[in-house]
Amino acid sequence: MKNSIRLLAILFLASFALVSCDKDDEATPTLYDRLGGVAAISAVVDQFLTNVVGDNVINARFAATVASPSRTQLLRNNLIDQICAGAGGPCQYKGKTMLESHKGMNITQAEFNALVGDLVAALDKFKVPQKEKDDLLAILGPMQTDIVGK
Ligand code: HEM
Repeated sequence: MKNSIRLLAILFLASFALVSCDKDDEATPTLYDRLGGVAAISAVVDQFLTNVVGDNVINARFAATVASPSRTQLLRNNLIDQICAGAGGPCQYKGKTMLESHKGMNITQAEFNALVGDLVAALDKFKVPQKEKDDLLAILGPMQTDIVGK
């Protein structure tokens, strides 16, 4: 009898421990989770690419990409993986480094800002909250040093 009471007490306490673990997980979801996972990220990337193609400040840069469906597909997949992985999701970025892929393009600060604006417009279209926008831009912003003026 004593033993079964002790066992019940242990189970009772253990269930509290499990519940509090769950709560911890809920309290600290990754940016990937907060963005809504790979489906939501893919939808944002598609809108972002649509915005880029319509953006006269930078769309000439992507003329050759847009002319080739396979190249467009590869860029799309690389961007999804890059954002997913950067946000703590279960993806692996398999593309070139930012320095390798933008070297020789001499991208200006104005062009970089235009592209970020196109991304923000895509995030706004899907009503991504300010905190998640800030967190994502904090991941992508530092890439500027490997992209602008290279
Ligand atoms: C934070 C900003 C940026 C990010 C995260 C980014 C990301 C990427 C990625 C992942 C790729 C593909 C790399 C690969 O093929 O392995 C790429 C390629 C490229 N990026 Fe960017 N990029 C940024 C800014 C820019 C800007 C400002 C421009 C020009 C205005 C630009 C123009 C290009 C072009 C032309 C390509 C080649 C596309 C192709 O392969 O057809 N990028 N970028």
